[in-house]
Amino acid sequence: MPSTNDGAIRIDSVSHHYGSGGAEVTALGPVDLTVDPGSFLVLVGASGCGKSTLLRLLAGFEEPSQGSVQVAGARPTPGVTAGVVFQQPRLFPWRTVGGNVDMALRYAKVPRDKRIERREELLGRVGLEGTADRRIWEISGGQQQRVAIARALAAETPLFLLDEPFAALDALTRERLQEDVRQVSAESGRTTVFVTHSADEAAFLGSRIVVLTRRPGQVALDIPVDLPRTGVDPDELRRSPEYGQLRAEVGRAVKAAAA
Ligand SMILES: Nc1ncnc2c1ncn2[C@@H]1O[C@H](COP(=O)(O)OP(=O)(O)O)[C@@H](O)[C@H]1O
Ligand SMILES: [Mg+2]
Repeated sequence: MPSTNDGAIRIDSVSHHYGSGGAEVTALGPVDLTVDPGSFLVLVGASGCGKSTLLRLLAGFEEPSQGSVQVAGARPTPGVTAGVVFQQPRLFPWRTVGGNVDMALRYAKVPRDKRIERREELLGRVGLEGTADRRIWEISGGQQQRVAIARALAAETPLFLLDEPFAALDALTRERLQEDVRQVSAESGRTTVFVTHSADEAAFLGSRIVVLTRRPGQVALDIPVDLPRTGVDPDELRRSPEYGQLRAEVGRAVKAAAA
């Protein structure tokens, strides 16, 4: 298990541009944000406001044009700082379910004699016990996304990042996966950053919700959430007036920030 101290995020005066000269696009910023270890931060905002850019900076896939991004006091390193889940599962179709998780465990240098146990534990966590030998094409889109989540958790990275991971799934599957990600994130103790444009999803998942303005994305609103994180029936949570109010507040804020 990662220590719960190692997932602190510090974003200082970060802006990010793409292209150069007349074709330069400022995608993001300036943004200042500090995130406590173990938080479930949801970034919500209209399409094109820079959410994926911010996530890529946190993963270390890109360096900010200005300012600094630090995770546990250091610059993010791709593959080391964060496990990432994208909108598409991006699995290796010629490998089995277990094979896809195994690759991530090998990459994370988990010793061979520990790998099977660890793989089964990860598959169990995402509700896929007993499926290691299945082929990727034999399982549903929702199950494929579960494999992608297990893979992202394989290396014990301080961050768990998800970029609109459920946008392509049907409503019912999306709700089940939201419930599981909420749980898995709490169990793992990792700092989670989840990007979405859905106010419903943000309200259900976040322990903190940051609403971004339209491009270049800046923090429009920073909402702490005190809905219970564990020991609560998800359907009950979704029916609660507190959730309803929060969802409405986030919905209004996203609309206002995009205007
Ligand atoms: N690699 C890139 N090159 C040029 N422009 C980009 C690139 N990636 C993103 N952008 C632009 O930066 C802005 C923010 O993009 P992105 O971070 O993907 O937003 P979001 O995830 O919120 O939809 C958009 O205007 C997008 O077109
Ligand atoms: Mg995006």
